[in-house]
Amino acid sequence: MKLFIDTANISEIRDMAWLVDGVTTNPSLVAKESRPFRDIIAEICELVDGPVSAEVIGLKTDEMVAEGKELASIHDNIVIKIPMTESGMKAVQILTNEGIRTNVTLVFSANQAMMAAKCGATFVSPFVGRLDDIGADGMGLIAEIRECYENYVFPTEILVASVRHPRHLLDSALMGADIATVPYDVLKKAFNHPLTDLGIQRFLKDWEGVPR
Ligand code: G3P
Repeated sequence: MKLFIDTANISEIRDMAWLVDGVTTNPSLVAKESRPFRDIIAEICELVDGPVSAEVIGLKTDEMVAEGKELASIHDNIVIKIPMTESGMKAVQILTNEGIRTNVTLVFSANQAMMAAKCGATFVSPFVGRLDDIGADGMGLIAEIRECYENYVFPTEILVASVRHPRHLLDSALMGADIATVPYDVLKKAFNHPLTDLGIQRFLKDWEGVPR
């Protein structure tokens, strides 16, 4: 499974650039940085040699296509993130036909994921955490999408988004998701286990008794 980082923060990306295969941003993450969108995206593309998702703001097909083309001109790594609406899927089809990669975002059902795949999306982003927040089964959605895509060999990659904790990351891998996009703090947690810390402490303590 590929690992992306879900942030627009340059320090976080710089710290994790050795590990991650790509980056996803969204308007809320970009707004936290108080810098021009274009500058942030261009800088991210220099740090990580992999797909970098940049989201459009327009809601009409022609607006999304125009924004998408403009963003795609910044760097070859840019993937255009488009919300899961009917107008959005028309934009995905147009951009795909022009060789521009897309990431369909705000996906909350397997039917939406199928529509995205039918329109040629490169990535589909189901938001597991936001489903869990309303008492639905976020990871259950990943299992459904995996099954639908495998029945018909859709090439669209499942990019698990709205990841909130390390269990989401593990379940993504167990369910055969192609990618998980993970916030910085959750990535850090995935390295840790209290028994590892205890084990290191015990080895170091015992080492003190070894004659030098
Ligand atoms: O980038 C989209 C997604 O990962 C957002 O996550 O935590 O705002 O639901 P969250």
